[in-house]
Amino acid sequence: MAEISSIVPPGCGPVPRHIAVIMDGNGRWARRRGLPRPAGHRAGVKVVRRIVEAVDQRGVAALTLFAFSSENWRRPRTEVNLLIELFINTLQQEVDRLHRNRVRIRFIGDPTPFGRRLRRLMQDAETLTQANEGLRLNIAVNYGGRWDMLQAARRLAACVAAGELKPEAIDERTLAGALSLGDLPEPDLFIRTGGEQRISNFLLWQLAYTELYFTEVLWPDFDEHCLDEALAWFAGRQRRFGQTGEQVERIKGA
Ligand code: IPE
Ligand code: IPE
Ligand code: MG
Repeated sequence: MAEISSIVPPGCGPVPRHIAVIMDGNGRWARRRGLPRPAGHRAGVKVVRRIVEAVDQRGVAALTLFAFSSENWRRPRTEVNLLIELFINTLQQEVDRLHRNRVRIRFIGDPTPFGRRLRRLMQDAETLTQANEGLRLNIAVNYGGRWDMLQAARRLAACVAAGELKPEAIDERTLAGALSLGDLPEPDLFIRTGGEQRISNFLLWQLAYTELYFTEVLWPDFDEHCLDEALAWFAGRQRRFGQTGEQVERIKGA
């Protein structure tokens, strides 16, 4: 029989291995100060820098940030352009420092609508940092959870068409592995700032058993203290993965 310790479900430690964040509330933060929305996005970028460092210091292995959703194209053209421009500037300013901090960067989402310059910057950042063994920083741009499942289905279908995979061999593990973050543990903790309690087409498959934390704090106001509150809340959760609370206690105590 398997050792009891080997059947402890993954991700039950006090520190999450992987945190996924919807950084929401930039626009409202600006509006409350009588500022234009871009001011909120600029303030939001500064917070990204701080939180990446704080998450790294707290021993979290992976951080996935939602920067631009596949639905955010529906915003006014001027805001979309501003967001893309800000993204380009941020990459130019931050990648070297992240590299020095041994952060490994990856972008998830469909890059095809972006211009050559931005695609090149993203590619260069991934290549530069690919051997780093520090924090795994995933940035979701033009990302949608439905798109992710679709691209995974297409990839698997192509393997079937090529005779490399039998349809009956496709199981949850195969499908999970074909998703954008297929090589990483699923997020243990999800944080959404800005008060909305929805997933907004973020990591749909991967959030199946993630602990969901919602805070009213707007993203530009989110700081290390807010992060620690979320981590403390997470540490107090009992993750049952379908088992009973008693079973989980017994396994933990073993
Ligand atoms: C999140 O802040 C940033 C992006 C979606 C790019 P919002 O811009 O959605 O801010 P609110 O929700 O309008 O306050
Ligand atoms: C989700 O925020 C996307 C990002 C933070 C990048 P939104 O502000 O776009 O989400 P909805 O539209 O309010 O659901
Ligand atoms: Mg929003």
